Amino acid sequence: MTATSEPLVLGIETSCDETGVGIVRGRTLLADEVASSVDEHARFGGVVPEVASRAHLEAIVPTMERALRAAGVAISDVDAIAVTAGPGLAGALLVGVAAAKGYAIAADKPVYGVNHLAAHVAVDTLEHGELPDRCIALLVSGGHSSLLLVDDLARGVVPLGATIDDAAGEAYDKVARLLGLPFPGGPPIDRAARDGDRGAIAFPRGLTAARDQAEHRFDFSFSGLKTAVARWVEARERAGEAVPLADVAASFQEAVCDVLVAKAIDACRAQDADTLVIGGGVAANSRLRALAQERCDRHGIAVRVPRPKLCTDNGAMVAALGTHLVAAGVPASPLDLPANSALPITTVSV
Ligand code: KG4
Ligand code: ZN
Repeated sequence: MTATSEPLVLGIETSCDETGVGIVRGRTLLADEVASSVDEHARFGGVVPEVASRAHLEAIVPTMERALRAAGVAISDVDAIAVTAGPGLAGALLVGVAAAKGYAIAADKPVYGVNHLAAHVAVDTLEHGELPDRCIALLVSGGHSSLLLVDDLARGVVPLGATIDDAAGEAYDKVARLLGLPFPGGPPIDRAARDGDRGAIAFPRGLTAARDQAEHRFDFSFSGLKTAVARWVEARERAGEAVPLADVAASFQEAVCDVLVAKAIDACRAQDADTLVIGGGVAANSRLRALAQERCDRHGIAVRVPRPKLCTDNGAMVAALGTHLVAAGVPASPLDLPANSALPITTVSV
């Protein structure tokens, strides 16, 4: 990399069920190739770790080659290789980390092991430019639901709160299952909800009562909501009545989005941040995007949400965090960097 050119970084993502390879120059996205094993998990109603690892093994080299071809670059051209080092499924992470090390050694490139959650935040810079000096990030995926204070993403983030039971995406997946909708549950519930009345059923809003404010002001809880939906559906079925799918989907979705947006705005106000960044698979949700926009407009808070394809897992997000780290002068990771399935959110790069 010359002093004037922007870093060219290749990012590898294998923490769950998508094998992603992205290539980014500065903040310009050059390639974003994703091979998903989601269809192989669908009949189990959730991601099967062994199946995911095997699928990553099969997909990693072809996905790598497709990304390099799409970007029109060779591995020798890149300035660094970034890879998700955690959190995620241990075996799945290992495939990406081993591949990154192999390519890094073969092409003599530095490697950055990065945090998957920080990458979900960084990806927004590809679409909306540099992050402001201070912002709140709402991270909502199949495995995580967190509120973070982000001052300088290259140096770390401050966790403000997280789910105390199910993640938001997990709640979508479980509720979809009990409604007979396919896995992953987010997209079919999002679609079914469009024709429903979101005020039809008053489902509970977890950890929003006055008594929860002292200990859980910025935490989430979705398992009570899931149980409430299950009980409601069971009661209808027992009574021999049809379950109004669209109304249940819309009311459940409203309960999730209402809490996510309310707590995110509360965090912005408490931390004096005028920007909210939303990332992770659930950020692809149409109601969450609309509700966040509507309520943030009212509070003078700018909302940044990447386009849906960049919200779900991909390699571009890892490359985006990689270029950010290179530009900030953060040292590369040691070549024996471990995959860490429980990597804490406070560790942005290892
Ligand atoms: O970030 P992601 O791709 O993988 C993880 O790191 O978990 O998130 C996957 C989650 C799944 O639970 C899926 O149901 C959810 O994101 N999801 C959605 C939507 N698209 C994906 N949830 C709600 N609405 C959507 N449109
Ligand atoms: Zn994710």
